[in-house]
Parts: sequence; structure tokens; C-alpha cells
Amino acid sequence: MSLIPALQKRYAVKKYNPAASISPEQLDILLEALRLAPTSFNLQPFRLLQVTDPVVRERIRTEAAFNQPQVTEASLFFVLAAETDVDERTIARSIDLAAAVRSVPRSALEARENQIKGFIMSFAPEQRLIWAQRQAYIALGVLVSAAAEAGIDVSPMEGFVPDKVDAILGLPARLLRSTVLVAVGVHSNGDEHAHLAKVRKPIEQIHQSL
Ligand SMILES: Cc1cc2nc3c(=O)[nH]c(=O)nc-3n(C[C@H](O)[C@H](O)[C@H](O)COP(=O)(O)O)c2cc1C
Repeated sequence: MSLIPALQKRYAVKKYNPAASISPEQLDILLEALRLAPTSFNLQPFRLLQVTDPVVRERIRTEAAFNQPQVTEASLFFVLAAETDVDERTIARSIDLAAAVRSVPRSALEARENQIKGFIMSFAPEQRLIWAQRQAYIALGVLVSAAAEAGIDVSPMEGFVPDKVDAILGLPARLLRSTVLVAVGVHSNGDEHAHLAKVRKPIEQIHQSL
């Protein structure tokens, strides 16, 4: 389906069919969309953590996510987490990759590297984490759009307590901060939200000339 009709049709699923799974090919579409999402300075400072253990999913649902059923009933469940240690090494690795992919000498990218360092390292560590989380949200938007186009149901979820999810998954030791939860699967025929009219502001309230 092309993008606009797909966005009109998609919705944030509340009830999944726990017996239905998405295929590896469908998962690959979502992963590739996330990977291709644009980010500031192309630093991609996040990870998509797939939580496969049903016991851990149940703990996240009941202890950290206000008992939202999507956490355990969707085919797949992810935590999109931001890196808490964005620093000069993050930038250097990104420059290494660009030099290798584009077959240019690393020295040719040094001015760019210094420009990025000047911007990112001027932030305090807490601001750097907020910046990294913003990048994660861009990737979330691209993933949600790709899912819509491919007819895959997803639920982005901010209704959780990050400190609790971080503790359950041991994220501080991995230098990660849970940012948004993502359930992926096939909606239940009993999900009333599937049939609700799409509520959005008229475009005049969003698009304005100054
Ligand atoms: C970042 C983000 C966080 C959200 N968190 C939750 C959530 O925790 N629980 C929930 O049921 N819906 C959640 N939603 C779904 C929104 O409420 C939903 O996208 C919005 O009401 C528009 O409805 P639609 O996506 O079905 O068109 C979230 C959506 C986004 C984009």
C-alpha cells in the first residue's frame, strides 16, 4: 500500500492476537526502516532491544508498563533504548564507518569530525541523552510508517516507567536508557480501536505561513 492510505489505515493497536506471529521477512522490513532512518550527524545513538523471554515481558507489563496488554500479547516486543555514553568515541566510530563505506581517507573527514565533536560535546551529558532520545524518536516514526506501508501492526508505548524497565533489563550496565516500547504483531479481531475514525487536527492548525 502506498504511504498516505497506509497512514490513514494504521492505528496504535491495543489488543493483539497472541496466536498470530509476524514473519522474519516482516521483521526485516522494520529493522531496515529503523536502520535507514535519518539522524542528526548520522550517529544513530540507539538500540532496538528485542525482549524474547516471556517471563521478562510479563515483568515489564506488570511492574513497569501499567499492565498494558500489548507488552505480552503482541508477536514481538522491543525496547527502543538511547545510548547514555555518546562522546568523542561515538563520533570517531561514525567517521571510521563513513570513511570505509565511501572509500575516502579518514583524514578527509577530520574537519567534519571536529565539527560534530564541537556540537555534541558542548552538551552536558544529560542533554546528550535527551539528544540521543530525540534521534530514537525519529527512528520510531520511520519504523511506524514502514510498518503501516507493509501492513504490520505496531504499538509505540511511552506508558512505562523507564527506571523500572532499565532495572529489569540491566540497561545501565549496557549504557542504555529505555526510551519507548514497541509491540509488533497482528491485531485481534476484538480490538475496538481498529474501527474508530482517525482523529487529527485539521492541517490549517498545523501548517501555517508566518
Ligand atoms: C511515542 C508514543 C507513545 C505512545 N504511548 C502509548 C501508550 O503507552 N499506550 C497506548 O495505548 N498508546 C500509546 N500511544 C498511541 C497514541 O495514543 C496514538 O498513536 C494516538 O492516540 C493516535 O492514534 P492512532 O495512532 O491510533 O492514529 C503512543 C504513541 C506514540 C507515538
